Order: sequence, then structure tokens, then C-alpha cells
Amino acid sequence: MNQIEKTLSIIKPDAIERNLSEDIKSIFLKNGFQILNEKKIKISKEEAEQFYLVHQSKPFYNELCNYLSSGPILVMILTKENAVSENRALMGATDPKDAKEGTIRKKYGLSIDKNSVHGSDSTENAVKEINFFFKD
Ligand code: CMP
Repeated sequence: MNQIEKTLSIIKPDAIERNLSEDIKSIFLKNGFQILNEKKIKISKEEAEQFYLVHQSKPFYNELCNYLSSGPILVMILTKENAVSENRALMGATDPKDAKEGTIRKKYGLSIDKNSVHGSDSTENAVKEINFFFKD
């Protein structure tokens, strides 16, 4: 069933560093997403560890948390019909070298770590991730 959903999107340090946030935001808007809220922040390693807790047992966890806390990020609440899956399709595969033409990671991703964007992977996680960054 098609439903209006919210999802969390993060523009990661590699993309902020290359001044790509306006380009990436315009891709979301062109694809029918609305940006309900956004803020540019820098998080601590401890906050990154909390955010990525589901990946705690993965060999890349430490590096992942170092990376997300290495520079400013832009966190956004996106909405549209089926926002979670639509955002994942628009981002493309986690590893930019596997991402399809026309996806954000294909266009801007540098590596599996520096893959420019994060998006919630389920509606349940979207609620958790939105609450993590936008509690007030
Ligand atoms: P993201 O969608 O933010 O979710 C977790 C991140 O871990 C992922 O994007 C990648 O940037 C990063 N990562 C690093 N190595 C791997 C890996 N081997 N498999 C999946 N994700 C990885």
C-alpha cells in the first residue's frame, strides 16, 4: 500500500566537504520529496556510535563512527509516498561502484565509506533515526 512516510537522510562529511549539499537537496526535490526539517551539525564519536548501534558487531563499525563524526553533516527529514524505499532507490547501492546510473551514490559517492548519503532502511528505523536527531 502506498503511504506518505517520513525518512531520515544524512548528507555525509565527504559531500559537505565538496559543497554538494545544494545539488543533492535539489535531486530530492526534483524527485518529489519535501524537506520537512534540516540542520547542519557536527556530532561526536559517541553520538555516531549511538546512531549506528545496529552495526556495532560489524568489522567496519569503528571506522564508520570515526568517519561520520569527522566533519559537518546535514541531517534532513524527507517525506513523500513510500519515502523510505524511494529514498533508498534514489541513493543507490551502498557501494558507489555497484550503484546504478542516475543514483546519488553513483554520481557523487567516492567509496563504500565515503558514499555521500545515508537513508533509513525501514519505516521503524526511520522513526528511531528521526527522533535521534530531531527530538524537540
Ligand atoms: P550507510 O547507509 O550510512 O549505513 C552504514 C554505513 O556503513 C554504510 O552506509 C557504509 O558507508 C558503511 N560501510 C562501510 N563498510 C561497509 C560494508 N562492508 N558493508 C556495508 N556498509 C559499510
